[in-house]
Amino acid sequence: MRSALLIALGLVIGILGTAFAISALHQRTPLPKAVMTVMAYHMSQLEHSVKAQQCDATAIRTNLERLQSAALDIPGAFKGAEDPFMQASNKLQGSLKDAVSAAPGTCAALATALQPVDNACDDCHKRFR
Ligand code: HEC
Repeated sequence: MRSALLIALGLVIGILGTAFAISALHQRTPLPKAVMTVMAYHMSQLEHSVKAQQCDATAIRTNLERLQSAALDIPGAFKGAEDPFMQASNKLQGSLKDAVSAAPGTCAALATALQPVDNACDDCHKRFR
């Protein structure tokens, strides 16, 4: 009786362990989505500034720099991705570098600086998302 209970307990633990392992494999890590979510947040802050026609140079700079630094985590978050994906990531980096150095101080300048960034997001999403 006792050994039958122990065997049953062992089975349950085994099944639970397997279920956890399978779900961990499916999720891998939350990092890819986290990086994208942070970038989307700063992108939306910037787009909102343009729409509201309230373009404070300091706030713009902060959001652009945060976006740029989050984008630096793409290669680490998507480890093992193929070359074309990494090129798309580099393209985003390039457009963000340009946007930061353009230091847009008006809504018009910000809209112009964001266009290539937006294109870089879309370009990668169309091919790899
Ligand atoms: C180099 C490729 C690449 C670039 C560049 C890129 N993304 Fe993504 N993005 C992806 C992939 C791949 C996914 C799907 C991730 C997943 O489901 O795990 C994704 C998903 C997302 C998501 C959905 C996240 C979720 O919770 O499912 C958002 C939002 C997002 N990206 C925003 C952006 C923004 C904003 C930019 C530009 C500033 C950008 N991405 C640039 C590849 C890219």
